[in-house]
Amino acid sequence: MGSEQPPNQSDDATSSTSKTLWGGRFQEPTDAFVERFTASVQFDQRLYSQDIQGSIAHATMLTSVGVLTGEEAEQIIEGLNAIAADIQSGNFNWSIAREDVHMNIEAALTERIGSVGKKLHTGRSRNDQVATDIRLYLRQAIDAIATQLTRLQQGLIQLAHQEAATIMPGFTHLQTAQPVTFGHHLLAWNAMLERDYSRLLDCQNRLNECPLGAAALAGTTYPIDRAMTAAALGFKKPTDNSLDSVSDRDFAIEFNACASIIMMHLSRFSEELVLWTSSQFDFIDLPDRFCTGSSIMPQKKNPDVPELVRGKFGRVQGHLVSLLSLMKSQPLAYNKDNQEDKEPLFDTVDTLLDCLNAYADMVPAITAKADNMRDAAGKGFSTATDLADYLVRKGIPFRDSHEIVGNAVAKCIDLNCDLSELSLETLQSFSESIDKDVFSILTLEGSVASRNHLGGTAPEQVKQAAAKASDTIKER
Ligand code: ARG
Repeated sequence: MGSEQPPNQSDDATSSTSKTLWGGRFQEPTDAFVERFTASVQFDQRLYSQDIQGSIAHATMLTSVGVLTGEEAEQIIEGLNAIAADIQSGNFNWSIAREDVHMNIEAALTERIGSVGKKLHTGRSRNDQVATDIRLYLRQAIDAIATQLTRLQQGLIQLAHQEAATIMPGFTHLQTAQPVTFGHHLLAWNAMLERDYSRLLDCQNRLNECPLGAAALAGTTYPIDRAMTAAALGFKKPTDNSLDSVSDRDFAIEFNACASIIMMHLSRFSEELVLWTSSQFDFIDLPDRFCTGSSIMPQKKNPDVPELVRGKFGRVQGHLVSLLSLMKSQPLAYNKDNQEDKEPLFDTVDTLLDCLNAYADMVPAITAKADNMRDAAGKGFSTATDLADYLVRKGIPFRDSHEIVGNAVAKCIDLNCDLSELSLETLQSFSESIDKDVFSILTLEGSVASRNHLGGTAPEQVKQAAAKASDTIKER
């Protein structure tokens, strides 16, 4: 990510020299407000390194097909590299009057190397240029996001392995349903992230095509070599259709959709972490460094990081809607509307990276309060299904056993006790098929251990699943 300085505001907003890139046709300078309103350099300067990379590939290709001489290309490339160094070290004057990152760099090039700089734009347009820049940018951003995602998954899997036998209540409708293991719960989160990872790579693979050569919209009359620029920039291939190449932003929408699903998942984890840190649940502890206190209530320790991550889902899904709305009904080919794609996209990348980073740091530091989890699992008749299954094994049809257990639960509510605390006599009053072996299945440990099949919550399965998940990640 590039260093971002504010554009040079002292730049004369109405300077007519600034508009020489298309000055020929125009009788009056651009209105000062319009100049600022139509400029994108304030935010698209972030694309400078991709822009320069694309220009170098373009100039090299122009030489190979004989449009530029080797010496011209050399001067251009040297100039572009010097500009990249200036930008990196903060010695570049971004100018609103030069509208966007592309024209800022091109004008600076001509200032630096003279009129040979004006040859760089032969056989291309800002339309294929910007489409190329964003694809390059997103390709890199996805790599960075995938790295953070993997780090988070590693933390989850490790914790899952450690907590493979830790019993907690499993919920449906947020009501105690059946006992599960904490490790199993954590691996459910990992399963979501595993899908997210493959979706991201899929998106990256689809966007990895090079629009350069589409020029403004129809292609160019020069004998360009599109395969060469595509290969130089590490793209799989050139895009197929020049009109589509300059107008397509599907990849940005698709990326933002992937990002929104990840943020949706993080918001679900967040919600559970927030609940679990409350004194009502008290299932886990988050280290102090991920929490903040209250300025008025001395006892408070607030789970700010999960809360904020939950809240940040809003902006990311908002950006998805923005991008979809931006593209809806746009006629072919390039329209200035498309300049609006960048801010949502950049903010999505920044937000997602921050959230994943925070979670990757925080998750390994979660401590399970195993006794509290176990106590909670012991409440709410979480082994009722186990009792029903037990009766089925004794030959009672499931619907009948369901009713028998329902009666037993009603009795427990009366007596304010758990199923495992009823005497054998009392249990037998609901069904003669109940024997003293029932108590082993009414325990929480018995309940989770008996769900010992692929995808089940038994500690043995969780350990195997964690090992498998970890292998999957190693194959990346
Ligand atoms: N700043 C523009 C954008 O972000 C670059 C392309 C402008 N092309 C044009 N013909 N005005 O989309």
